Amino acid sequence: MSGTSPGRIYLDHAATTPPDPRAVEAMLPYLRERWHNPSSIYIEAQAARRAIDEARATVAAAIGAQPDEIVFTSGGTESDSLALRGVLDASAKRGRHLVTTAVEHHAVLDTAEQLQREGAMVTLVAVDRDGVATPAAVAEAVRDDTVLVSVMHANNEVGALNDIAAIARAVRERNPRAVVHSDAVQSAAHLGLNVNRLGVDLLSIAAHKLYGPRGAGVLYVRSGTPLIAQIQGGGQERDRRSGTENTAAIAGMAEAVRIAVAEREADLGRERALQRRLLDELPRRIPLIGITGPRELERRLPGSVSIVIAFVEGESILLALDLAGIAASSGSACTTGSVEPSHVLVAMGVPPELARGSLRLTLGRLNSDGDVDRLLEALPPIVARMRALSPVPTTEPPPDWRPWLVNA
Ligand SMILES: Cc1ncc(COP(=O)(O)O)c(C=O)c1O
Repeated sequence: MSGTSPGRIYLDHAATTPPDPRAVEAMLPYLRERWHNPSSIYIEAQAARRAIDEARATVAAAIGAQPDEIVFTSGGTESDSLALRGVLDASAKRGRHLVTTAVEHHAVLDTAEQLQREGAMVTLVAVDRDGVATPAAVAEAVRDDTVLVSVMHANNEVGALNDIAAIARAVRERNPRAVVHSDAVQSAAHLGLNVNRLGVDLLSIAAHKLYGPRGAGVLYVRSGTPLIAQIQGGGQERDRRSGTENTAAIAGMAEAVRIAVAEREADLGRERALQRRLLDELPRRIPLIGITGPRELERRLPGSVSIVIAFVEGESILLALDLAGIAASSGSACTTGSVEPSHVLVAMGVPPELARGSLRLTLGRLNSDGDVDRLLEALPPIVARMRALSPVPTTEPPPDWRPWLVNA
């Protein structure tokens, strides 16, 4: 994949993925020759329109949807925002209650918070110690005036997978009129998503998390779902999202989706194997660490490894890894820079001081065994060095840390 400098190792695929050269190639004609406005009527514009129609058909087929149920957006944040605001606005007469979880991405959480300031009622469902929202816990929060339930498919920080199909069933048993949304931004590259098997009315996807470009995303909207556009104007996307379409990014996203479908099994096998090595080896090589999120691979997002390391700061580890040629993340990249411990880890019950030592390693299509070897060689001495410099003793974790540490 282009863009990764020699000698550098990229272990931050949950933040963004390197665009596949084939996706970049698919974009170029729409930047160079067919740059015309797809809404215009001349021949060149019709070529741009065709590209968007074909992209819509490709994305729809990949997730088991109809083409007119696909709304192109600018990315995951916009898709989430349109889902929440669009449904609440459209359902205002029926109710103003929104159910979501405490571990959602800020694109959902902050939108929910703002909606609450605007008069909506929001219930945040608690998660278990693995970061999973159980169907029973979600259903329990649903009321007669609940208009939308939004639960992420895979958590971006700890890789916990939610059983969205079971959640959707449980919600509908409680309130058949509640609309069900899932943020599938992290899972779209890895898991063969099908909106009917998942039982969702709305699904968010971002191109740049599946080896496509920045600037394109999808909100799947099941036919008949009440939704009011949040960007008005030229009436594009069947009046659900106005604005001249980003033809090149949409074409690149469609190619990335095609590749993800065609190569999913191969990607999955490789990423699962590397993920298993890290999850097995890290606790063997570094004392006093904990794996956050589910231990079992089938309950985890493929490629996702998250740990807490007692008595170190996640940010310091990241800087040291960077110097060693390894790009990684602590918690969510979108909140890196903030000093607060991750809201996800805190919601799971990880003590805040321990949560400060979080590290997220997310593997992707081009990672190899050699990359995992390098990380496994580089990280233990970095941790040992930092603990040696610590002003506090680093051998006796407080009692409330112990349940989180695999080798305490
Ligand atoms: C679960 C999840 N939802 C939403 C987003 C936001 O997507 P975007 O960066 O495309 O706006 C992210 C990005 O990290 C994410 O991980």
